Amino acid sequence: MLNSPRSSQNLTPPTGPLPRHIAIIMDGNGRWARRRSLPRLMGHREGVTAVREAVTTCAELKLDALTLYAFSTENWGRPPREINGLMRLLRNYLVREVDEMVENDIRLVAMGRLDQLPSTVRKALERAMAMTENCRGMRLNLALSYSGRSELTDAMRRLAAEVRRGHLQPEEITEELITRHLYIDDLPEPDLVIRTSGEERISNFMIWQIAYAELCFLDIPWPDFRKEHLFRAIRDFQQRDRRFGVIPQQVRERVG
Ligand code: FPP
Repeated sequence: MLNSPRSSQNLTPPTGPLPRHIAIIMDGNGRWARRRSLPRLMGHREGVTAVREAVTTCAELKLDALTLYAFSTENWGRPPREINGLMRLLRNYLVREVDEMVENDIRLVAMGRLDQLPSTVRKALERAMAMTENCRGMRLNLALSYSGRSELTDAMRRLAAEVRRGHLQPEEITEELITRHLYIDDLPEPDLVIRTSGEERISNFMIWQIAYAELCFLDIPWPDFRKEHLFRAIRDFQQRDRRFGVIPQQVRERVG
């Protein structure tokens, strides 16, 4: 686990090979608020500031993709007040940030059971995705009403339907085919997963895609996340010895 950086923390962007895709489990909003005797929603509101900084910094670094775990299928079990507040924050973010996304050449995509979102959020999402669809810079992927198991379940259902129609034989189901049936089939797999809040678990997040990702746990709550934390996680990632279960020469061939 990486501890909070001191004020002398290096704000210089990391040099050297960068992860192509970073995925973030944004955790600790509620605890951030509780420590300040504020309602939980204030933690989520502060979390949006951290989202903006993460998106801008990753786009400046020219990553291929940034995925943010913004709302899990399990989060539907929270009190209606908190869910409504989170949905409002999401909608407002999409409405307010879309022009800047276009300016920064960021293409917005989303994954999850999006039909479960309130229509106000779905409309804002569809509009933002349409407005940024020709952007060719970083892809910003929001995981909304998402869980890794529901993604795999939905993929299996689609595959089973193809088998039933006679369009697919069970022995033709390969890892590549399963990957192509996930919510988004053309994102590079995350190289680095960051989780804030000090918890060290994956919580049903991209469980298929992160088989070989490096994991970085930060002991700060999400609302405190700033570019120095991102740089620190990337520097930590750069120290890792990624072997993908093979030997060094084969790794070079695999990652190019
Ligand atoms: C987890 O913290 C965080 C969430 C469930 C929501 C994350 C949402 C945002 C950061 C804001 C909206 C998002 C975007 C993309 C604009 P928690 O509430 O579980 O914290 P706790 O574990 O301390 O209670």
